[in-house]
Amino acid sequence: MKTKDQVLALLKANSNTYISGQDIADRLFLTRAGVWKAIKALRDSGYNIEAVNNRGYCLVTDTEILSHDKIKALTDNQSFPVIVLEETTSTNDEARKLALSGTFADTVIVSDYQTAGRGRRGREFYSPKGTGLYMSFLLHPKMDLSKATSITCMAAVAVCMAIKDVTGTDTSIKWVNDIFINDRKISGILTEGFTSLEDGSLSYVITGIGINLYPPKDGFPPEIRKIAGTLFPDSSNASDVKNRLCAAIINNFYAILNDDSHKYISEYRNRSNLIGHYVKIMQADGKTSEKGYALVRGIDDDCHLLVEYDDQTQDALSTGEVSVEKY
Ligand code: BTN
Repeated sequence: MKTKDQVLALLKANSNTYISGQDIADRLFLTRAGVWKAIKALRDSGYNIEAVNNRGYCLVTDTEILSHDKIKALTDNQSFPVIVLEETTSTNDEARKLALSGTFADTVIVSDYQTAGRGRRGREFYSPKGTGLYMSFLLHPKMDLSKATSITCMAAVAVCMAIKDVTGTDTSIKWVNDIFINDRKISGILTEGFTSLEDGSLSYVITGIGINLYPPKDGFPPEIRKIAGTLFPDSSNASDVKNRLCAAIINNFYAILNDDSHKYISEYRNRSNLIGHYVKIMQADGKTSEKGYALVRGIDDDCHLLVEYDDQTQDALSTGEVSVEKY
């Protein structure tokens, strides 16, 4: 096998992750100059190989590169900006920076890698390079702060519809912001609302969506290993999924946001994996609530979880106050 083909095979076996030049040289018994020559030859043949100081080389699978032009070409509403970043701390942080810099236009920020992805309740959202899709919407909806939770529910429906459109896969929603395939969480949504100090009105909302597409090379971190899952079992059949999924989420989300009939709520209920099940109710501090367990009866139009306790009393739970675990 030619040197460049050996280097290609090694990069392919580790696609979307970095291998140092020294590592490649050691594994293939080459000099560093030989590695560089092979990388150059591969690039000349059209392979997209990234080089980063102190990290090495990475073969980026062509079809899975986020592309501003592709996303724009696939979205119905051409008027809003889409910003694609190779890497960021968090797309929600980027949206916040934009808002603070005075951006009034609704904007979408998409990235392939977050170094400090955030989840709800101060948790980390594991966002390794190349295996997920991370995006945030900076929105300026005309609604009361108390209704902002419904934006999370709209986004959840948009994600499920987009996944169905692009891959044909059915997903379910665990109130309020988690998307599941069977018993594995493959996506989470974090909505942050910012109010005006002058009149307490909602100034803007940032809705961040993270989707695990492929299993990370070294698996998920131990703390989420039992619950986290991926949309696909591996990346071998990837066919521009990231751009298509991103565009489909944008299209579905904007359609839902602009639909005054609020049809999304019945879509949300239909996909709920909690209705009819018992849940354990936890307070915001993570402790089990006094009432403990309840049967989920439904979800109301304001996205409250309607539950019934053993003593037959009923409650409408709000996501700001409690979270639930399927029991
Ligand atoms: C959760 O599961 O608790 C919510 C996860 C939200 C993750 C997304 S990824 C894009 C955006 N940027 C972030 O830092 N968080 C959200």
